[in-house]
Amino acid sequence: NDRKKLIVGNWKMNGSLAANQDLLQAIRAGIADLDAAACTVALAVPAPYLAQVQALVAGSALALAAQDLSPHEAGAYTGEVSAAMLKDFGVRYALVGHSERRQYHGETDALVAKKVQRALAAGLTPIVCLGETLPEREAGQTEAVVRRQLAAVIQLNGHCISEVVLAYEPVWAIGTGRTASARQAQAVHAVLRAQLGAASSHAGRIRLLYGGSMNAANAAPLLAQPDIDGGLVGGAALKAPDFLQIIAAAC
Ligand code: G3H
Repeated sequence: NDRKKLIVGNWKMNGSLAANQDLLQAIRAGIADLDAAACTVALAVPAPYLAQVQALVAGSALALAAQDLSPHEAGAYTGEVSAAMLKDFGVRYALVGHSERRQYHGETDALVAKKVQRALAAGLTPIVCLGETLPEREAGQTEAVVRRQLAAVIQLNGHCISEVVLAYEPVWAIGTGRTASARQAQAVHAVLRAQLGAASSHAGRIRLLYGGSMNAANAAPLLAQPDIDGGLVGGAALKAPDFLQIIAAAC
């Protein structure tokens, strides 16, 4: 396929001005020869560091991503960050519906779909995260859960669905060191691709990322799967050598 691979490092709630500087310096040095036509690399950083990281990635092949965005356009929503504000700092991608948002902040499928709508309206590319929990997998509900999560987004965003990126992240694989096997991940990606195909004639160009304990050792076999178009990397994105090896496996 001709989908360009996308590797996204999600820093979650980690970092400091000093640590970010060191990490970015090492990543920039490591990707100096990167073929930007072969793949895209983005960093999803905490909102307070957007300005710092925007300056640190200037002139490099690295793109900027947000970890979340408000479903509202502007106004009296204390604590929220709008899509327009993110655009102001050169942000291109926004994670939406990460399992940590769904789990700890009560985000529903409907709210996730609204955030996707807001991102698209502002010209940001939403990276919609979905995936089953361990009890759901053990109960044989994996396919039903991810199909329900994707259906909510398709329903509200209709023909724009070809503008999103999806990230399949089995919740039991996040931060646990327990990765889905390449075969397990591909099986779910194929389900998602088929569901997208029923909704859009452009499903073939939608990128589907895998996330959940992706690391330097397992990235290559995962990325070799026909429907895995990149990775959403948490822990390993905080260590430059590991992140650079994952990038090398994709590019
Ligand atoms: O957004 C990233 C994912 O939640 C994966 O995190 O690589 O630390 O398991 P992890």
